[in-house]
Amino acid sequence: MLEVSDIRTFYGNIEALKGVSLVVQEGEIVTLIGSNGAGKSTTLRSISGLSPPREGSIRFEGSEIGETAPQEIVQMGISQSPEGRKCFQRMTVRENLELGAYLRRDTAQIQQDLARVFDLFPRLEERERQKAGTMSGGEQQMLAIGRALMAQPRLLLLDEPSMGIAPVLVERIYETIEEINRQGTTILLVEQNANFALGVSKRAYVLETGKVALTDDSAALRDNPDVQKAYLGG
Ligand SMILES: Nc1ncnc2c1ncn2[C@@H]1O[C@H](COP(=O)(O)OP(=O)(O)OP(=O)(O)O)[C@@H](O)[C@H]1O
Ligand SMILES: [Mg+2]
Repeated sequence: MLEVSDIRTFYGNIEALKGVSLVVQEGEIVTLIGSNGAGKSTTLRSISGLSPPREGSIRFEGSEIGETAPQEIVQMGISQSPEGRKCFQRMTVRENLELGAYLRRDTAQIQQDLARVFDLFPRLEERERQKAGTMSGGEQQMLAIGRALMAQPRLLLLDEPSMGIAPVLVERIYETIEEINRQGTTILLVEQNANFALGVSKRAYVLETGKVALTDDSAALRDNPDVQKAYLGG
């Protein structure tokens, strides 16, 4: 479904990605782990068109999207829940969700998807009229994921869905991520705290200073002593 080949992405003169390659097959959950500054967010931003690669190629369902504009990429079926949530603080929960569908014209289907998001995250329905900025960190994380789903993605990019969230709630968010996948959405997941992420994904990539250092089945990576030491707090 997604094939990233040897991409190099820069911020000015800083080479954040030094030749990253990865593959996501339809139906999978794939995890990308790595330390601060390894290039995880930049990889997602390259795929979603926010930080396009200077070199290399990104193919989605057979089309090259390495130079495609972000809105067009959303319309092709990729949407991202960004790091640090980035909800529109002064807008309500419902308004934030509706914004996620702003490129769509299929009003009836949008209402159905809103119902689906409320089904996945009942807390959002309870707080429909609350300003996003007054929601807790975990609630805003749910809102950011819900908003990304409102674009009806076939591929959902999640950047650190567990960041700053209490362990009990992390478990809930991960159950929901699995449920979203069961309902047919392919997921590429970025995490620094890798335990849960490796638990829900079949395969994973380890990113180190802008390069893929290691890739394997998630179960094998969990058992790998180096990975345990660096990313699993073991
Ligand atoms: N807007 C920017 N301008 C300049 N450099 C940037 C910018 N964004 C990221 N970088 C640099 O690119 C590199 C990769 O950053 P990136 O945000 O992709 O890392 P990350 O793996 O997501 O880290 P974290 O776990 O801390 O979120 C870092 O060295 C970072 O300083
Ligand atoms: Mg990041």
